[in-house]
Amino acid sequence: MNENKESVDLSLRGFIKSLLSVTGGAALLSSMPWLLSCTPEKLQELGKEKARLGLIGSGSRGQYHIHNLLAIPHADLVAICDPYAPNREAALALYPTAKGYEDYRQMLEKEQLDGVIIATPLHLHASITLDALAAGKHVFCEKAMTRTMDECKAVYEAYKQSDRALYFCMQRMYDEKYVKAMAMIHEGLIGDVVGMRCHWFRNADWRRPVPSPDLERWINWRLYKEYSGGLMTELASHQLEVCNWAIGKVPSRIAGMGDIVFWKDGREVYDSVNVIYQYADGRKINFESLISNKYNGMDEQILGSKGTMDLSRGVYYLEEDDQIPGIRQLLDQVKTGVFASIPTAGPSWRPELQSAYVPHAVMKGSTSVNSGQSMVSSDHDGSDAILSAFCQSCLTGEKAHDVVEEAYYSTLLCLLGNQAMEEGTVLDFPEAYKIPYLTF
Ligand SMILES: NC(=O)c1ccc[n+]([C@@H]2O[C@H](COP(=O)([O-])OP(=O)(O)OC[C@H]3O[C@@H](n4cnc5c(N)ncnc54)[C@H](O)[C@@H]3O)[C@@H](O)[C@H]2O)c1
Repeated sequence: MNENKESVDLSLRGFIKSLLSVTGGAALLSSMPWLLSCTPEKLQELGKEKARLGLIGSGSRGQYHIHNLLAIPHADLVAICDPYAPNREAALALYPTAKGYEDYRQMLEKEQLDGVIIATPLHLHASITLDALAAGKHVFCEKAMTRTMDECKAVYEAYKQSDRALYFCMQRMYDEKYVKAMAMIHEGLIGDVVGMRCHWFRNADWRRPVPSPDLERWINWRLYKEYSGGLMTELASHQLEVCNWAIGKVPSRIAGMGDIVFWKDGREVYDSVNVIYQYADGRKINFESLISNKYNGMDEQILGSKGTMDLSRGVYYLEEDDQIPGIRQLLDQVKTGVFASIPTAGPSWRPELQSAYVPHAVMKGSTSVNSGQSMVSSDHDGSDAILSAFCQSCLTGEKAHDVVEEAYYSTLLCLLGNQAMEEGTVLDFPEAYKIPYLTF
């Protein structure tokens, strides 16, 4: 498993290297400047140096990061902190040379660390990130950025004043499949982007087994508003980020409806959400998530005037496709003729059947497709590459461009989505939370 993970990272680095060597490649790269923090040349210059790291929060995602760290040659996990002994011990078993801590402040004080990885519940992201930056550490924190809008602003401002690198785990930004698809969109392959559809469906209660009732909120923090923004911060945060990335703007109006439809088990967060984000020019993102039916899986579709990019599957479809086999074109024409003769539909109506579209792969060879069903992650989804870039930043001191800004706006959109659903109102993106990044 580790060998594969490393090869994904190396293949992204190979892709960046090839971009730098072709005409127009540098311009393309400058539209995704965060990739510059994982260039192959800088990594070679580092030689055998290793970033000294501490992990804060060693639950399921923290342990997943340990698996990735084991495959990153320029990383050394020196310490692991988690007050919950079963998770701390499980993590120490994965990385036995690391020292265990119950309190992250002690770990920051006692260990000579270059950087920390934060994989705690959401409500702790802000305070721990601020403490670690103040202690002079580079920080890699899980998404979403923070639990509240004010915390987002405070972390963003602290980061701007700091000379430390800060990453939030928006792994799609470092997923080769997404990087290539975005390059194709920006080059005009699917024409003008006219809208976006994102959905994330699962059929699972999102609960974890609790050894004793007093640990319910500690273990199942995702289900309670004090610690979590529910489906929005846990799932939508990734998808809203890719939508903004596709068109280089931030939506200005937000409306939605949220309910607890099926899992009426004492949880506080919605199990069914539909949120619409409208950009100033009228384009929209439709985000939908339901966790009591998984038929539709997970997807991010960028809809263009000439085609559709299906990001999570790594395929695109063209509206007028000269690569469709002749027999298929003939069938389409027959279908069009037949439907055109139906009086209620009229001659301008064409059957909008998905079978008329042929998928084209974004990348050659096999690519991994994330079904969205795992609560931890899927293999080869960019999490290893972004973590590797962070380790590189720990050694070079170089900040990653735009990662914090992308996380900032996607998190605010999640939190505003929750607010719009709770208040039942259409919200305008508040002026006070705008930062000098992208336009509305
Ligand atoms: N990027 C992704 O795709 C992705 C996927 C899954 C989870 N996540 C994120 O990772 C984070 C962790 O999620 P998880 O599923 O691993 O949760 P988890 O409950 O499995 O793990 C959280 C851990 O943090 C520990 N913790 C709580 N308070 C702490 C403190 N003060 N100091 C140190 N540790 C503390 C808990 O004991 C627990 O072991 C969340 O922010 C989640 O949104 C991101």
